[in-house]
Amino acid sequence: MKILSIIGTYRKGKTIDTLVSKAIEGARAKTKNVVVDTVYLIDKRIEYCKNCMVCRKDDENKNVADCVISDDMEIIYPMIEIADGFIFGTPVNMGAVTAVMKTFLERATWVFGKPGKYPIKGCPVPRSAKKKKAIIINFIVALTIVFGGVVGYFISKLVSDATTILLPFAAGGFIYIAATDLVPEIKKELDFKKYMGTLLVFILGILIMYMIRLAFHG
Ligand SMILES: Cc1cc2nc3c(=O)[nH]c(=O)nc-3n(C[C@H](O)[C@H](O)[C@H](O)COP(=O)(O)O)c2cc1C
Repeated sequence: MKILSIIGTYRKGKTIDTLVSKAIEGARAKTKNVVVDTVYLIDKRIEYCKNCMVCRKDDENKNVADCVISDDMEIIYPMIEIADGFIFGTPVNMGAVTAVMKTFLERATWVFGKPGKYPIKGCPVPRSAKKKKAIIINFIVALTIVFGGVVGYFISKLVSDATTILLPFAAGGFIYIAATDLVPEIKKELDFKKYMGTLLVFILGILIMYMIRLAFHG
């Protein structure tokens, strides 16, 4: 059994090395013929991922996708490919893995993750895909308006004065949706001018509704 130990510490022979050697001891106690390869990321020249997406767009049937950057990851990729198991060892610095480990993980993500098919758990979904998904979900949710309209139509036919009850609820719903746009914490809008613009449109909307009421019902 081939185990690849990938270490993100900056100091050899200290805490992380001690913990990793204990993990290797444990693996050896459980399984025979354990061969361990160790990569100290600090010894390697690993460039930052450039988000060019060449790896992500590569043929998903390939086990290892292409990466345009030429550096020591070219040595590490084949080691990952032949390994049966991994031990990742990293200090927690500033609440996360070390910079070298993060740089390594970003470079490995889509080279081994197969987009659409078997993405590695925890792989970031590209922002463009998230936006597309949000638009589709928003559209599906918006279709409930049609459903609500049909239900409302039949209810108003069945109950004589249903409009008197339904209309205030509908108006309340609209005012609620518009009012949530005015909560800076929800909108994450800190621009005062834009905020005042939204507030004016909100007030204008209420005035228009009131004027329509005056025009048709006196
Ligand atoms: C810049 C820096 C930031 C750190 N941030 C954290 C942290 O957020 N949480 C933590 O528990 N330890 C933190 N530490 C402590 C290291 O994670 C800890 O010393 C670790 O054992 C170092 O591993 P090593 O002994 O293999 O070098 C930090 C250390 C450094 C140098």
